[in-house]
Amino acid sequence: VADLAPIWADWRQRRPPTRGIHLNSAAAGRSSTATIAAVADHLRSEAELGAYVAEAAAEGHMRQLRADVAGLLGTSADGVAFVESATAGLRSLLMAWPLPHGSSVAVAPSEWGPNLAAFTDQGFEVVLLGTDDHGRVDLDRLQRQLQSSPPVLVHLTQVAAHRGLVQPVTAIADLCRDAGVPVWVDAAQALGHVDTATGADAVYATGRKWMCGPRGVGVLAITEAAWRLLRVRHHVLAASDEPTVRALESDDANVAGRIGLAVAIREYLALGAAAVHRRLDEVGAEAQAALADLPGWTVAESAGTAITALRPTAGQDPETVRTRLLDEHDILTTASVPARAPHEMTGPSLRISPHVDCSDDQLAALRLALSAIA
Ligand SMILES: Cc1ncc(COP(=O)(O)O)c(C=O)c1O
Repeated sequence: VADLAPIWADWRQRRPPTRGIHLNSAAAGRSSTATIAAVADHLRSEAELGAYVAEAAAEGHMRQLRADVAGLLGTSADGVAFVESATAGLRSLLMAWPLPHGSSVAVAPSEWGPNLAAFTDQGFEVVLLGTDDHGRVDLDRLQRQLQSSPPVLVHLTQVAAHRGLVQPVTAIADLCRDAGVPVWVDAAQALGHVDTATGADAVYATGRKWMCGPRGVGVLAITEAAWRLLRVRHHVLAASDEPTVRALESDDANVAGRIGLAVAIREYLALGAAAVHRRLDEVGAEAQAALADLPGWTVAESAGTAITALRPTAGQDPETVRTRLLDEHDILTTASVPARAPHEMTGPSLRISPHVDCSDDQLAALRLALSAIA
């Protein structure tokens, strides 16, 4: 691809070719050939050696993976648990971390909708944090709120799913630490996309989106200071020295998927996390520029990510447009319903989430296809 820097063209080369144009990393990224091979190899080893022997043989990879995830999420390796998804990570946290019922959990208006439901299901009152004009938590107002009416928890979706918005998690975690209020972070869209070692007390994510790991493998990390608070039950057969957080893992697991995630993370680290983050920011800016002034659509405000949202202004239904883009143009996008971020979204939108290999010709093809559909 002529307009793509060799490093990102190589990223594309390292994956199976796509049928069409994949602009959907915010749903699930494209795994590399090496990641896919690692998953398949481990599954084969399970059949050849016996599943538990294969797992024992892969112990070195698992140790490396725990260390890598700990580094990415800002905890120690003993603070990492593997879960099935971001949703499973939050569920585990809510079960293990005692919070007084009926108390308030503070979130930004951009919060992921299903998380809001998880909090209200548990009997918490959800209160909204004040923001600046861009939707980012206003730090001065937060500081005042932490003094006047502190919530029992601040929960942040670091990178929003419905538009390109990054919450200032590090600064928020600093303020909350001083006030003695824990911070949990939904890093489902943040892992592999922006820096996730923010000093939060707990962070959870899935590996399948920007990290391009296999589906069904998520991560949860909890800082050491909180381990003594956790209510966990170790499996009766667990080793007596099992780390507390490890008790949050399922008894059986998709070990092959974890091995795949280990490879995906190593590939990301080899490229350089900061270089990937910069490139994804650039991809977002390129997509916004390519789609600006497209008749029938407005580009939602976006900064710092590769997620771009288009709002229809001519009565189009984003779900229909998404289906037609795929069926008629082989372009994969997402239709976002307002339930994804009910305190911010006022209507459905079309989400574009290319990865580092996004090229000008792909964006031009999308623009052309949207014009043809309108
Ligand atoms: C911000 C955010 N949080 C949570 C989730 C849920 O992740 P999972 O499907 O891994 O449970 C998503 C998935 O799209 C998301 O975008």
